Amino acid sequence: MAIERTLCIMKPDCVRKNLQGEVLSRLQKAGFKVLGLKQIRLTKEEAGAFYGVHKGRPFYDGLVEFMTSGSCVPVALEKENAISDYRTLIGATDPKDAADGTIRKLFADNKGENIVHGSDSVENGKHEVNFFFAESELI
Ligand code: RTP
Ligand code: MG
Repeated sequence: MAIERTLCIMKPDCVRKNLQGEVLSRLQKAGFKVLGLKQIRLTKEEAGAFYGVHKGRPFYDGLVEFMTSGSCVPVALEKENAISDYRTLIGATDPKDAADGTIRKLFADNKGENIVHGSDSVENGKHEVNFFFAESELI
């Protein structure tokens, strides 16, 4: 299996609930290497661009509102088979549908406020890591 990069974003609900350490610990125990990590406050333009693929969908405006409602913690991750393994670890988008023991099942309140973002393909993993981190920030 190939080494892949994926982007975790700890969303504002994760930060408000003080779950950053808990989530990071689960990622590290699952074998993800942390290449970069920062705390930021997204602008509406940045959040809108990041989730641009969803523009026009009914949840888009609420998603941008939520993602700009507090701090986010993007984390650049690397691991063999990272894209698929990370999505297994976080669980389905809606915590009601997420498997037991997954991060979203354990900590998320609802489909909109679901604790973490995860990249959905190898190509998007690279692109999304580069959205938040310069190559020089990835150790
Ligand atoms: P993400 O991109 O954040 O990792 O989430 P995902 O792949 O599991 O889900 P996606 O379909 O890409 O949706 C992006 C985010 O939009 C919010 N959402 N709300 N209320 C709704 O019906 C709804 N649908 C999506 C969630 O925050 C979701 O993670
Ligand atoms: Mg997605």
